[in-house]
Amino acid sequence: MKNIKIEIKNQICTIFIDRVKAFNAINIDLMKELKDTLVKLKNSNEFRSVILTGSGENAFIAGADIKAMSSMNSQEAYNFSKLGNGLTLLIENYQKPIIAAINGYALGGGCEFAMACHIRFCSENAIIGQPETGLGLIPGFGGTQRLPRIVGNTHAYNLLLSGKSIDAAEAKRLGFVSDVFKSDELLSKCQDFAKKINYNSPYSSRLIIELVNKGAHLSLQDALDLETEYFRKVFKHDNKNIGIEAFLKKEKPDFKD
Ligand code: CAA
Repeated sequence: MKNIKIEIKNQICTIFIDRVKAFNAINIDLMKELKDTLVKLKNSNEFRSVILTGSGENAFIAGADIKAMSSMNSQEAYNFSKLGNGLTLLIENYQKPIIAAINGYALGGGCEFAMACHIRFCSENAIIGQPETGLGLIPGFGGTQRLPRIVGNTHAYNLLLSGKSIDAAEAKRLGFVSDVFKSDELLSKCQDFAKKINYNSPYSSRLIIELVNKGAHLSLQDALDLETEYFRKVFKHDNKNIGIEAFLKKEKPDFKD
């Protein structure tokens, strides 16, 4: 692969967006590689969680590739957005938790990829925003939909309409990221968090991701009914016996994938 790098270690799959010279800007080839990789690895039992980050020290992802967009006609732009939105949905609905390790600029499409991840941490030098309006564009990979859901309409309109960027402290204050770490500690802190996820039942993680995503489109009553259904489901899985027995015996649970 030309545009991403993968490392699987200690049951964590780290995916590096790897176009350092272009500040990891996203083009069509990159999105296809990322999509193929995620689909191929979806049922792998070599890892239980994923970290998505950018290669180099400057950027997580500085947005969709502006040079590539400069020659797109409106149909190509539609296809580009369709590909990006398909990919962000794939990330959001992935069976294994995905952590965004935002190591610098997360602008436009970069902010949108981060928002599709289940957890977001950033480094102290992170700069986050949706600058599309300044380019005469709008966000095309989910920014107008996920940003209000994450930070609320007040802050989302503020960021989307002004195109301004925020720093790490502001991102934490708005609840965009769970925590901020020193740049040289970001990856190891994300790995520590991934280890916590990996200790727990992978089946439970999978059901939680499904419930959060499906519940967002349902009434509270229907969503709670679905949770009750899934609570029945989880009692049919071996991991329920493994987890409860380990607790009662004061042992570490050894969950199945
Ligand atoms: N697309 C293509 N190339 C990009 C890029 C992008 N989004 N962002 C940075 N680069 C490239 C630059 O062109 C430059 O390459 P060259 O050396 O070959 O010229 C290299 O990365 C380094 O960039 P700068 O020299 O500009 O570095 P800087 O430190 O002065 O500034 C920056 C960094 C603030 C990120 C600035 O590059 C910038 O503003 N980038 C654009 C950010 C942006 O507007 N993103 C949104 C894109 S639109 C979008 O994403 C739409 C969508 O939702 C689908």
